[in-house]
Amino acid sequence: MKFFVDTADIDAIAELNDLGMVDGVTTNPSLILKSGRDILEVTKEICALVSGPVSAEVVALKAEDMIAEGRKLAEIAPNITVKVPLTWDGLKTCKVLSGEGKMVNVTLCFSANQALLAAKAGATFISPFVGRLDDINIDGMDLIADIREIYDNFDFQTEILAASIRTVNHVTEAAKIGADVITAPPAVIKALATHPLTDKGLETFMADWAKTGQKIL
Ligand code: E4P
Repeated sequence: MKFFVDTADIDAIAELNDLGMVDGVTTNPSLILKSGRDILEVTKEICALVSGPVSAEVVALKAEDMIAEGRKLAEIAPNITVKVPLTWDGLKTCKVLSGEGKMVNVTLCFSANQALLAAKAGATFISPFVGRLDDINIDGMDLIADIREIYDNFDFQTEILAASIRTVNHVTEAAKIGADVITAPPAVIKALATHPLTDKGLETFMADWAKTGQKIL
């Protein structure tokens, strides 16, 4: 399973990238706001840092304008993935841009039928938002499982990018179901390494080691 980092924070991306944990990056207008950076500048920097797909989102609402924005974003670097919302105009944009050979990530997906449409429109990635479904008391992982089943039934090549990942359990569940990619904030990816028994065990080993009076170096 691939790990995308859901942020426009260059330092956070660089830290995880140095560890080989970054297969791609996703951004959205809220994350650009949070970064305080210009979208074109920060996206260019991210693309120079990470060789995998970097999603940059259009903000127009009409297909014609979305297509123009998508083409401009795609000029930033060859690894740009144009992110479009799952609206009818977004699907039209997906069809046109994917026909031009550009990678397209269809975002804000909340139903299996929406995911089916995105695959038929040639999406490279579909982004079902797990956490935002959980927020309204609907199990987001059920959606990931439904999309996995549907895509496998018809051999759709669109990759399932489990988005709005908020917890380490989301990562485990998405991996078990067979999501192709998860995108998560840096803090969630770092939290995957932690376990209280690891901390407790290390504490014991350090205490016992000190009692031996030995040194390795
Ligand atoms: C995905 O591409 C989105 O940027 C992101 O995962 C949304 O997450 P949120 O629901 O935590 O804002």
